[in-house]
Amino acid sequence: MNRIYEQNIEISSSQVQNFFESRFNKDDILASVMLRNAQSANIAHLRDGKENTLLHSLIDAQKKYTILDIGSASGRFAGHLKNNIQSYTGIDFAVSYIEAAKELYKNEDAIEFYQMSASELDKSILDKKYDLIIITGLCIYLNDNDLIKLFTDLNDLLAPQSHIYLRESISVIDKRLTLKDFPSEELETEYNAIYRTPKEYEELIAQYLPKANILQSDFMLTEETGARKETNQKHWFLEYKSNS
Ligand SMILES: C[S@@+](CC[C@H](N)C(=O)[O-])C[C@H]1O[C@@H](n2cnc3c(N)ncnc32)[C@H](O)[C@@H]1O
Repeated sequence: MNRIYEQNIEISSSQVQNFFESRFNKDDILASVMLRNAQSANIAHLRDGKENTLLHSLIDAQKKYTILDIGSASGRFAGHLKNNIQSYTGIDFAVSYIEAAKELYKNEDAIEFYQMSASELDKSILDKKYDLIIITGLCIYLNDNDLIKLFTDLNDLLAPQSHIYLRESISVIDKRLTLKDFPSEELETEYNAIYRTPKEYEELIAQYLPKANILQSDFMLTEETGARKETNQKHWFLEYKSNS
């Protein structure tokens, strides 16, 4: 069974890691990490442009943020937010994307990247309080226990009056859809991902990030940018009130 509805089935994190390592393509890093092939690469660039506009509409244009990007790949947000960076730390478990990111931003002292798993955050490296945490397209690759651990860990990393930008692929059919070892024709390999419902994310936020308020949330994709019958993307912009 590789298209599973409703049940909470685990996926393999090492398979996800191998999947991203083998997808890396230096000729179009963005399309490779957004799971687009040569025919649909334009969709990756369209989505990136729209998300850049959205993020700028959410943040304070005058402010310099201490940013943590979890599952950063090659750090596209470091480029988009260049005028708003006090410091930017990107982490990802895929070495190929982290190495590419280090090369891309090698002349930027305020921007750094580390190979790190989102389920084993290294607090000796992530030793700041961050006022903007970005998590995009990561949670669908985390099993429930790892996602709960990540959300719980965020409470120690967030500064008072900080923000979280969370954007995920989600199920729009009122029940979770898990692809497990799914033979994807489009990706030409087996694929693993968990499409939770928006309600599942909102319940996890309420339970594990109790000091966070949802300021803004919306669906992201149109037919042109890849909305499907059962899945879409959704973002949540959260305000985190206080650590005390
Ligand atoms: C769809 S890409 C999104 C990348 C980036 N956030 C963006 O929006 O362009 C998902 C990224 O999450 C990373 N990832 C998946 N599971 C991870 C984990 N457990 N720890 C760290 N990174 C992970 C992958 O290596 C990949 O770079």
